[in-house]
Formats: sequence, structure tokens, C-alpha cells
Amino acid sequence: MPARQPCNATMNTLLPYSSSSSSSSSSSSSKPLCTILLLLLLSIFFITARARDTITVGSPLAENETLVSVGGYFALGFFNPPNNPDRYIGIWYNNIPPQTVVWVANRLKPVTAYHSFLSLSPDGILTLSSPNSSTPLTTTATTLTNPVAQLLDTGNFVVREETDGSDAAEWQSFDYPTDTLIAGMKLGVDRRRGLNWTLTSWRSGSDPAPGEYYLAMDTAGDPEMFLYSVAGRARIWRSGQWDGVDFSGLPDNVTFRDLVSTFTNNADEVSYSFNILNRSIITRGVVNQTGVIQQSMWIQSMQVWKILFHVPQDPCDEMSPCGPYGLCEPNDSPMCSCLQGFKPRSPQNWALLDGSGGCVRTTRLDCANRTDGFVMVSQVKLPEGTNCTVDATAGLDQCAARCLSNCSCTAYAASIASSGARSGCVMWYSDLTGMRVFPGEGQDLYVRLAAADLASATSHSSKSDHAPIALIVSLSVVAFPLACAGCYIWRRKLRKSGTSASKEESTQDGDIELPLFDLSAIAVATEGFSNANKLGQGGFGPVYKGKLGDGQEIAVKTLAKTSAQGSDEFKNEVMLIAKLQHRNLVRLLGCCIQGEERMLIYEYMENKSLDRFLFDKAYSALVNWQTRYRIIEGIARGLVYLHQDSRFRVIHRDLKAGNILLDKEMNPKISDFGMARIFGGDETEVNTRKVVGTYGYMSPEYAMDGIFSVKSDVFSFGVLVLEIISGRRNRGAYVDSSHLNLLAHAWSLWNEGKSLELVDESMDYSFLANEVLKCVQIGLLCVQEHPKDRPLMSAVVSMLGSDGASLRTPKQPGFVRRMIPTETESSSSKQDSSMLNDVTITMIEGR
Ligand SMILES: *[C@@H]1O[C@H](CO)[C@@H](O)[C@H](O)[C@H]1NC(C)=O
Ligand SMILES: *[C@@H]1O[C@H](CO)[C@@H](O)[C@H](O)[C@H]1NC(C)=O
Ligand SMILES: *[C@@H]1O[C@H](CO)[C@@H](O)[C@H](O)[C@H]1NC(C)=O
Ligand SMILES: *[C@@H]1O[C@H](CO)[C@@H](O)[C@H](O)[C@H]1NC(C)=O
Ligand SMILES: *[C@@H]1O[C@H](CO)[C@@H](O)[C@H](O)[C@H]1NC(C)=O
Repeated sequence: MPARQPCNATMNTLLPYSSSSSSSSSSSSSKPLCTILLLLLLSIFFITARARDTITVGSPLAENETLVSVGGYFALGFFNPPNNPDRYIGIWYNNIPPQTVVWVANRLKPVTAYHSFLSLSPDGILTLSSPNSSTPLTTTATTLTNPVAQLLDTGNFVVREETDGSDAAEWQSFDYPTDTLIAGMKLGVDRRRGLNWTLTSWRSGSDPAPGEYYLAMDTAGDPEMFLYSVAGRARIWRSGQWDGVDFSGLPDNVTFRDLVSTFTNNADEVSYSFNILNRSIITRGVVNQTGVIQQSMWIQSMQVWKILFHVPQDPCDEMSPCGPYGLCEPNDSPMCSCLQGFKPRSPQNWALLDGSGGCVRTTRLDCANRTDGFVMVSQVKLPEGTNCTVDATAGLDQCAARCLSNCSCTAYAASIASSGARSGCVMWYSDLTGMRVFPGEGQDLYVRLAAADLASATSHSSKSDHAPIALIVSLSVVAFPLACAGCYIWRRKLRKSGTSASKEESTQDGDIELPLFDLSAIAVATEGFSNANKLGQGGFGPVYKGKLGDGQEIAVKTLAKTSAQGSDEFKNEVMLIAKLQHRNLVRLLGCCIQGEERMLIYEYMENKSLDRFLFDKAYSALVNWQTRYRIIEGIARGLVYLHQDSRFRVIHRDLKAGNILLDKEMNPKISDFGMARIFGGDETEVNTRKVVGTYGYMSPEYAMDGIFSVKSDVFSFGVLVLEIISGRRNRGAYVDSSHLNLLAHAWSLWNEGKSLELVDESMDYSFLANEVLKCVQIGLLCVQEHPKDRPLMSAVVSMLGSDGASLRTPKQPGFVRRMIPTETESSSSKQDSSMLNDVTITMIEGR
């Protein structure tokens, strides 16, 4: 026996597929001495040239050794997680430089001492031994007579009969996933062997022990995968049902060519797995420590893992974001609506943006009379289905009839029991929760309604909030029923005789009062932040129109929760901004801070924003040159105030036509000033990694290097001036044939002495040519490539006041070299845009 082992090892090393049945015959037959010697020599050569891929009974894996699969795809051995001195046995990608571990054998039992080894016993048990301990990794007794443990090219580590040609493994690492799903692995339930294939996150980046989150298949009803939080003892995400191609709750960019997903649902198992048809594509799914499922792909050329998608991805991915019969649409604001035939359970909560209570029927079902019917809700993630029933054979029509005849049936949908076969249906017998809109991806759901509600036009008036939780918290402290609390707030507001709202706060130095508004008052003023009152989408969140109790109209800017500021810091910052008062700045009336909610309340501007007047041909004829010139002057004065004359220097950072508001008399007022302060923190910081702003208005140094200064505002102002003159947007402003952006176009016309051709055609021709020429020149001076060449805003104001004769000659404008495709041309490739720039630059140099 002892003599056989080296021989077997030799054979395994030599044969390309060690599982090949030929190994048995050759090892058992006796060989001439020279052949054995040759084999021994060869084996020495091979052992030094390439790591082995098997552990046999007599040759354990030493602590400093690794197994490498035959094709070199995976490696198995001892490793240290980052910043952890403990040793674990794991499998990782052999050719991916940042060690990416896909499987850990001993998550809970690391070995600390050196001189550990992994051995295989004659009865096929893998044991991890260290000087003072010994842990079996595989506990199931096997029937193997001649076992071998082998790392396969799939990343699977198997224990099987050495001479068995069938490849059937007695034990395999794929049956005990850790946090990673790779091609060929299964997630789900093996009913036959009583195995649960689940993924459990690491405890931390340096501790592979089972952590806080796990992903498991629930086979009840229509099977779905659920992500669980251990501490919260709760489900936090569900995959949605299998729709024949993928799970209906996954975003639509999850599949790609060469990836084949398989869903199996039969008596033996319910499982999901994927396979990659092209070996050079490496992709894996991981449940990470923060409870996010990430699918990523290795990009060889860049040597990085690129994340293809991750879930949960937005608030609509929560288990029941909009309560029973509520439908979640993340791109809508508010994001919840009731299904047709349903209305908010609590209109008060709903008005205060708390949609989590869900919806109730408008009309009771009338099952006995059989007058009920169904309405189709298309392309949704189907409701949670743990207590629904699946009939794999019934067609949709049969299903409708069956659902109608059972008075507790609330909905039905097509069921795809297993991959490919579109058959059967699924029926729900309880409240429908967890639905979200999934355009192009979701399934059709048929919801039972009373006859009276079937015809009624859908009224999606019912809304909820981005952050119901914050509101629930803030509302739960109100001891009275909600309606009473609402009345109380109203009455208190009405008692105030002031113009705007309850002025409760004043700054430390006391020279200005900053009203703090109640969230409920704002909710009432904006009719529950209804879509009808939405003015637009600001850079930091949606903006709503509202009307206070005293009739004053307001604009409410909601701030997305990206600011790290606490409420006190935020309040201080807002108070500073409230002190900035100038006729060309929009006046801040107050703010609202409640829980996580942050809102700024501004005076409402009748004529909305400048971009409507410039770029909408229906309006642009209404603004003549005099008005446009006045607007340019006003913006310039507002900027001088922000940059120099105010108490604190403010750099706007997102100056654009959409942020210039117009009052009744078309006076321009800069809005969103100070947002940079609120979001950017220290204003003297000149280098920021997060570039906020709008392409087309961004100076080259800001867009590319993140460097901003008053001169980057000057650049944006220059773009704005050229847009006001031409009525064209900088980005997207390509003159048909010559492919120039607005700056390049203005520059080339100026060089040709044809600047007047830039003037907006929809303007009547009563402009003063020298004023237009002066403004073109000022615009070009402001958009010069180098910040130091651009004038300060105070200089711009004096230029506007001059006759224009003494202006400097502008240098070449700064083009945003990393060309940003226009909205309509968003598919244009990188190559196209660099060509576009080449054209631009060559033409100009040629002059
Ligand atoms: C193993 O030995 C090390 C040092 O020799 C010791 O620290 C450790 O506690 C021992 N472990 C067990 C399980 O006895
Ligand atoms: C496999 O993928 C690689 C990289 O994406 C590609 O270069 C190669 O052509 C693909 N092979 C096949 C057979 O599709
Ligand atoms: C988990 O994944 C999410 C989404 O990709 C990511 O933002 C987060 O940083 C990840 N957490 C860890 C600990 O890597
Ligand atoms: C339908 O049912 C209601 C009670 O739910 C009953 O009052 C009514 O008479 C029924 N109509 C018919 C046509 O049976
Ligand atoms: C309706 O369906 C449920 C769930 O399948 C079942 O328990 C109940 O008995 C059915 N009721 C009738 C009247 O068929």
C-alpha cells in the first residue's frame, strides 16, 4: 500500500483529467522499470512546474502549499483575511491579483498556529489539523474506498472515488456556500438530501465568520429568494418570483449574453444557478457585510471588479414600501400610489407622505353575486407570495374563473414553474404587498375588484413619502390622533399675524430671524407634496409649489439626504444664507428640519426659470433684447454680491439657466446659491472629489480636476450669456453641419466677425448691435480656457456699463475636452466625441 501512493500521485499529476478512468488501469498494471523512472522524473518536473490539484490520503496539503485546478482557474489553500492573523482554508481565483476568496472551509474555526495541514482520511473525511487541534471539515461518513479530494476548474472542491470515472462527488464545497455564488453553484433547497444552499455574509472584511445577512430560498407558495437580517430577525428584500428568465424583482441589467440562469423546481429541489458559456468571463454574486447583494464581473484589462448590479437598490426594494395594495415607483415623487380601485387607508397619513399604511378598497367585493372582476396591473414585481398557491397546469382563463369562485382569492398571475415552461398560474389569498413598477421587466398581475371599480379611471392621487420612517418617528410623538394634531398646527399658524410663518428661531447675533416651518404645515401647503404641485427637479431634490395659510405662495426645495450635516449645522448654514439678501437673489423664507427631512422655503417666482424662456420656442419670442440684457446685468450683479460684497464669499457652483428664476417683472434672481455651502462644507476648499454641477456650464478645470473658484462661476456665467444671446443650450447645441458646440460656434463666428449671426432668431430684430457684440465678447472672455484669463464678476459689471470699445480680446474658450454626449446623442461612443473635439480644435487652430 505505501508504495502505491506516490505512483498514484504521479499519475494524477500527469494526466490532464485526473478523473479519467484510464488512471485506474495504468496504475494497476506493472510497468517496466524505465517507464517508472521516467514517470518519476517527469513528476518531479511537473511538481516543480505546477501545483497539484488533488489531496490524496497520504499527501496532505501543507500550510504553505496551494492546490491549483488543472486549467489554472482556481486555487485552494490557507489564507489570512486582511488584518487578521488567523489562518483559514479557502478557494480563490488563481489569476486575479487582489485575492478574491469565494469559499471558506472553516469560517468559525480558524487555525492560529503554523504547521497546520489539511488531510484526507482513508474513509474520505477532510480534516484540518493544527499542532493542538483537529477539526473535521466534512463530517458525513462516506462509502469511499479510495478517496481523493480535488479542486476542479469550476471552483468546486470535491471528495470522490479516485477510480470513479463518473465524477460523482461524495462531498463538494458547492453544497456549503459561504457568501459567494459562482457559476455552477446552486442557491436553494435540496429536498432529497436536506441541504439548504444559502449565502451568508462575512462578519466583517477581516472576519469570514457568518455575519449579519443571509440569502435563502423560501419554497412556500411561489418560491422566492429572501435576504434576511439576522439581528432584525426580518426579511429585508425579496427577489420576486421566477418569471422564466430571471427573478422578477431583479433590475433588468442582470443578464448578459453568455450568462444562462437556471431555475429548478421539482420534488427533489428548488434551486437557482447560473452558468457562463464563455470561460473568459468571470462573474460572481456576493452577499456583502452591509446587506447588499452585488453581482460583479472581473474586467481583465482594467484589473478591477466591476459591479453589474446590486440589490436592494432603492426604497421600493423594501419588503412592503407602500403597504397593502400600494404600488411603488421609485422615479415618482411621492413614490407610492394605490392600485386602481383602492384608496389610502389613512388619508391623513398619506397627506403627510406616510404611505406605509397602504390602501383599502373603494368598494367592497361582492363575491356572492359574482359581479367582481379583475384589473390588470402591468409590469410589476409580483406581490409577496409565501402564502399563495401555484397550479402548474391551469391556464390563465381557468385561473380567473377559479379565483373568482373563491371569495378569499385577491389576485392571480401567470406562473412559470420552471425554466422555459410558461405554464400554470399563481393565486393570492391575502393582502397584496411589496409590488413595485418594473418597466420592461415585471409581470402582469390581475387584481380582483368590485364591479363598480373596474371601469373607474385610475386615480393615482394617493401618495407617500421617500422616507416614511422619518415621518413615522416624527409623528409618533404626537399623542393626539393625527387629525387633531393637524388642526392644532393650523390654528397655531393662523394665530400668527406675520406674513410668512411661525418665527420661532433667531440667530445668535439676533439681527435676523429665521422661521422654522413645521413639516406638517409644509405638507398641507403643498397638498401632500403632490405631483400636481411639483415645479421641477432641483439639483438636490424635487421642488414643490405651495400656498401658506395666509395666501403667500412659496417654493419648497426638498433636499436629498446626501448631506452629512446634523440639524444644528444645517440650521446655522441656512441662517448664514438667509442673511444674503440682494435684489438678484431669491429670498429664503425659512427652512424645515424634522427627523431626516431638510427643506428650504423660498419666495415663489411667477415666471419660473430662465431656461423655459430661452429654450422653449413658444416663450423665447416673448423676451426681447432689452429684457435679455437686463437679465444678464442682473445675474452679474447677483454674482458680484455672492463673490465679493456679501459677508461671506459664496461660490455658486451650479449656475445655469434653470437656476435663474424670474419674477413678475422678469427680474432675474439667482437661486440655489448657498447650496454649495450646505452640501460642500468648507468653502475655501478648492479641490473636491464630488463634482456637482451641470455639464455644459462647468469650467474645464472643475469638470476635470474638481478645482473650483469664483472663476468657475465666471465660466458658467459666460456660458449663460452666450445662451441668452443665442437661445441655444451649450450642451446639445450642435449646428447641423459643422458639429460645433455653442462655445466653439460663438468663438468661430467672433473670429469671422459674424457674431450677430449668433442672435436668437425668435427675438425680434430691435436689438442694439453694439450691445449684442459687447455681450458676446464678455461671454467669450468669461469662458476662456485658463481661469486666470477670465475676468472677475466685478470687472464684468463694469464692462457691461462701458461702451465695449476697450474690452480685451478673448483667447480660445475652454472646451470641456472630455466631451459629454448630448441627451439625444447619449449613445454616441467615446471615440465619436473625441473625434468631435479634434474637429473643433483643428478648425480653430487652422484660422
Ligand atoms: C493551541 O496552542 C496555542 C499555543 O500553543 C494556544 O494559544 C491555544 O489556546 C491552543 N488551542 C487549543 C484549542 O488548545
Ligand atoms: C469570450 O469573451 C471574451 C472576452 O469578453 C471575448 O474576447 C471572446 O471573444 C469570447 N469568446 C467567445 C467564444 O464568445
Ligand atoms: C456592499 O455593497 C454596496 C453596494 O455595492 C456598497 O455600497 C457597500 O460599500 C458594500 N459594503 C461593503 C462592506 O463592501
Ligand atoms: C348582490 O348582493 C347584495 C349584497 O351584497 C344584495 O343586496 C343584492 O341584492 C345582490 N344583488 C343581486 C342581483 O343578487
Ligand atoms: C379558497 O382557497 C383557499 C386557499 O387555497 C382554501 O383554503 C379555501 O378552502 C378556498 N375556499 C373555497 C370556498 O374554495
